Formats: sequence, C-alpha cells, structure tokens
Amino acid sequence: MHWLKRIFAPHYYFKQLKMSKAIAGFSKLTKEQKIEWIANEYFSAPKDAVTLLKNYWNTDETLQKLHDEFIENTITNFYLPLGIAPNFVINGREYTIPMAVEESSVVAAAAKAAKFWAKRGGFKATVIDTEKIGQVHFLFNGDFDRLTTFFAATKSKFFEGTQDLTKNMQARGGGILDIELRDKTTDLANYFQLHATFETKDSMGANFINSCLERFSKILKEEALNYEAFAEDEKNIQVIMSILSNYVPNCVVRAEVSCPVEDLQEDASISPKEFAEKFITAIKIAEIEPFRAVTHNKGIMNGVDAVIVATGNDFRAVEAGVHAYAAKDGKYSSLSHAKVEDGIFTFWVDLPLALGTVGGLTTLHPLVKFCLEMLGKPSAKELMQIVAVAGLAQNFGALRSLTTTGIQQGHMKMHLMNILNQLGANDAEKKQAIKHFEKNTVSHSAAADYITELRTNDPSRIEEDFLQ
Ligand code: MEV
Repeated sequence: MHWLKRIFAPHYYFKQLKMSKAIAGFSKLTKEQKIEWIANEYFSAPKDAVTLLKNYWNTDETLQKLHDEFIENTITNFYLPLGIAPNFVINGREYTIPMAVEESSVVAAAAKAAKFWAKRGGFKATVIDTEKIGQVHFLFNGDFDRLTTFFAATKSKFFEGTQDLTKNMQARGGGILDIELRDKTTDLANYFQLHATFETKDSMGANFINSCLERFSKILKEEALNYEAFAEDEKNIQVIMSILSNYVPNCVVRAEVSCPVEDLQEDASISPKEFAEKFITAIKIAEIEPFRAVTHNKGIMNGVDAVIVATGNDFRAVEAGVHAYAAKDGKYSSLSHAKVEDGIFTFWVDLPLALGTVGGLTTLHPLVKFCLEMLGKPSAKELMQIVAVAGLAQNFGALRSLTTTGIQQGHMKMHLMNILNQLGANDAEKKQAIKHFEKNTVSHSAAADYITELRTNDPSRIEEDFLQ
C-alpha cells in the first residue's frame, strides 16, 4: 500500500523524501564523514564536490584546525578577498585600512575618497559616547509602587552580587554604569525591565554584559521570593529573558570632512559650487525619502562592514543597530548629512558602533590580528573612528559618482574582471579588454562581443569554457 499512499498523498511522498536527508548525531561525525555524507546526499558528482571543498582547506593543519573550531560542522573555508585602502588621514594620522568584501568597487572607491580628502585636511573623527545596554525582561503581576520600593532596596545587591564578574572590567575602567527599573506595562501586560548600562572599554562586551544580566535575573528572582512586603503572587517574578541590546544609541562616533567649497574642484565637468549643491541635495533626498535612504545607508555600510569583518567584529550586530539608529526619529532616514556654511562644505556621519579590539575573534583569527596590527593596534574607540571614516569615505565616493558620472561607469569598470572571468578570458585577453574598456562602456554583452572578436582574430586564444 506504500505506493498507493505516494500516488494519492503527494505530501506523504514529499515527507519521505525530506526524511531521507534527515540525519541523527551529525555533529558527532568526523569532518571527513560529514563531507562524504553531504557530497553523496546533495551532489550529482560527489567526488568533484569533495575535491572542491578540499581545495579550500589550508595546507597548514594547525591553522585549518583553528578555523574548523570557530563554528560547528565546518567543512571548508569560505574566502572573501581582503583588500587594503591606503592614504587615509584620520585626526592627523595616516592609516591603511583593511577591508574584507566581495563587491568589486568598494575598496577602489574607499582608496579614491581617502586620497581626495588627504589633500584637504583628512578626516576628523570623535567618539561621542561608549555606553552599552542590556536588559532583563520580566513579568510581575502586582503593585507597581511595591515593585519600585523593592527595586530601590535591592539595587545595590545587583552590583554586589556581580563583583566576581565585574572586577576585571572595573580594573580596566569599565563595569556596570547603572541599572533602572522600567515599566513597560502600557505596551504589554505585567511587563517590566531591568535596563542596565555598561562600559566595556576595549572589548565588545557581549559575554560580559550577558553574564551580568543572567546574574541580575537570578538575584531578582531570589530577592523577590524573600521580600516580605510582596504578596504571595508578587514574589514569583517570571524572568522571560536576559540579553544585551544591539541597539546602542549612546555608543556613537562621528566622522566628518570639511573644506572650502572651491577646494571641491576635481574634474572640469562640474563647478565646485554646483557639485556641493547637488551633493547636499542628494543627501536631503536620503533624509526625507526612505527608499533612497536605505540604499544611501547601504553604501555607508559597504565601508563599515568591510572593516568590521576584517577586524573580527560582529557585522550582524552592527547592521541591526545602525539601521535601528537610522529610524530613531520615527522614520528611516540618512545616517550622513552635509551643509555649506560660510563657504565651508561639511559632510558627516554619526554611527552607533559597539566594537571590540580585545577578546573574541580579535585574539584568535590570524588575519584579524594582522589587520589590527596594520591599524596600529587600535583601542575600541580608535576602531570606532576608523570604521566610521570608512563608512563616510564610501558614502562620499558613491554620492560623488551618482551626482556626476553616474554609478555604473566606475562600478562596471571594477566589475569588468568578474565578467571576463565568467567569460573564461585568459590573462592576455583580460589585458587587452581592460585597455579597450578604458575608453568604452562596460557591459556584459559588450565584453562578450569584444572577447569573441579577439578570439575570431586569434582563434588560438579560444578557451573551451567560452565555446560552451
Ligand atoms: C552599491 O553597493 C552602493 C550604492 O548603491 C550606494 C548609494 O546608492 O549611495 C552605490
């Protein structure tokens, strides 16, 4: 009857198919066994799949093991190019900024903006604040005044009861700054928070904050149980969760550039005054129009994420926090701003960045260590400045192209190499194509036509891939 079920109940058949790929105890298999399983289950040419994965293994076994152990079920490494953008001047100091990113034009745009501003006084960056936030979310079914009195009487116990966790951080000048009780019952019945603020110095602080919060939660429950003024129901505080917030509106850095408007002159096709006006209007559009603001901010994040990844920081946390910040006034808006005052053009960005230069991947990943050393082993505050500058530089590059030549000219020039690789061009063909497209518009079809023409003139260059 099995076959009947399959015919008349397709969902049954589907379930069986899906079930066939279910596997118990996968994490206990060796790396080789995991690869063998995945290759046989999912690939039409399992041997080729295994070869591909192994081609990406590092020949240095110790180094490979280090990477294997960053996460669970590692089967190989996933490369991203690490590029460098030289000539950044930030607060009078020269930097070469590392960027791990796959998008063709990002590093080139950063380097170009760096050079442009190095001749005009460089970038200035200031850390406005470094406060981080964590919350214990809990339900309390009772009298708010009694909860407030309980919190006031218990507050010092949260500090005392976490001393073992905070002493090292305190020695470095950080720790728990404050803990507040917050009433959120207008949004959700019985919902309250312990809203705590932290200073975590050079570490991003996620583990420190979460450990403190979990201890707060334990203290909160224990103290409530023993608090005599509470009614029986009130004693049973229900903690829902304890976790840091990646929204850090008080951990903010500002990066800016400025120069007299006439110094903005770079190409003859547009006057500096017209350029400044168009640039500022482009920003005004991003300030008022969310569809544009998202793309505008994405351009900023092209620079930010690339440095965050290269320096071993958590780009998902930064992305989440930055976009929440962009919507802090109730409408998603531009993160950067610009103005002309008394003939001076100023362009700036404020970014909430909770970063670390000690702990986590920063002390483990050899390339992260390399990147941090290249940046002069920055403190977390310095790294905030560098990252914000990379974001501002990227935004400058994008807006300059958008308001003058259009984005595709520069972007497609950088993308040309990807197209040529897709077309299977050899080195000689690439060299000729790059020269040809210095004066011609790049597109996929133009590149394909050009390579065909080259190969027709010199058939010995035809590669198999290209013929397929
Ligand atoms: C592309 O990755 C980023 C841009 O779209 C940013 C922008 O439009 O400002 C060019």
